Amino acid sequence: MSLWTDHFIIPSPVGETASRPAYTRKSKGRHLHRRLIFNVSPNLIMNFTVSERITLTKTRPEDQGDVFTHLQEREVGRYMPWMPWPYTQEHAAEWLARVSAPGYDQPQTRWAIRDETQRMIGVVELAPQEAPLDHMAEIGYWLAKPYSGQGIMTAVVKTMVGYAFQQEKIVRLFAPIFAANLRSARVLEKAGFSVEAPLMRKRYFRDGQYHDGRQYALIRDP
Ligand SMILES: CC(C)(COP(=O)(O)OP(=O)(O)OC[C@H]1O[C@@H](n2cnc3c(N)ncnc32)[C@H](O)[C@@H]1OP(=O)(O)O)[C@@H](O)C(=O)NCCC(=O)NCCS
Repeated sequence: MSLWTDHFIIPSPVGETASRPAYTRKSKGRHLHRRLIFNVSPNLIMNFTVSERITLTKTRPEDQGDVFTHLQEREVGRYMPWMPWPYTQEHAAEWLARVSAPGYDQPQTRWAIRDETQRMIGVVELAPQEAPLDHMAEIGYWLAKPYSGQGIMTAVVKTMVGYAFQQEKIVRLFAPIFAANLRSARVLEKAGFSVEAPLMRKRYFRDGQYHDGRQYALIRDP
């Protein structure tokens, strides 16, 4: 039995067919790469039911207000070194227009986390690595502050683990985090990950300083 199955919430993918994208050369390469990893129809939009309250669906440009509001909270972006700060409406609009465009994220690797009213409250992402390291994917996530401490991200990560390990190619998931991000560490531990690099010195540069990192990983049972 796998590590996560004892408390794994079975994902319920709901298929919707997206309009066929106008491929650019760059996006064609990315799609082909992902298609080799994710054994799903490239035009399928995958939705997951995590719990009675929480679903995972594609991002939408209309999520701009929610994303902007949630990322005003410094605590949310602090441990994500690529996240702009201060975070503006323009950042939210640009990011959502890009990642929500038909065909940009197919097969799908990024999901909006939504509450029971379908408002966007966070993001989870699987980033498959390039060959010859394409047997692994990085998992990343953030959740709006008012929703923290309710077990939501642990359930979301478990759902993503289940989905990722359904793909024959993926045998390793990893998550580099700030060593100071104890909440994220706890989420990963509760989802079955273990520390494989306890101290990556000066792994991050954020707010004008270097910060130590730590890496967690989860290996698929044979
Ligand atoms: C980290 C984050 C995803 C956690 O999501 P969440 O839904 O609140 O997590 P959960 O409720 O599933 O679990 C949080 C756990 O951390 C624990 N925790 C909370 N604050 C803590 C702290 N200061 N030190 C140690 N553990 C802490 C909680 O008690 C809980 O563990 P428990 O169930 O054993 O009690 C969310 O806070 C977040 O998005 N933070 C900002 C973005 C971020 O850091 N992303 C990750 C980048 S790697």
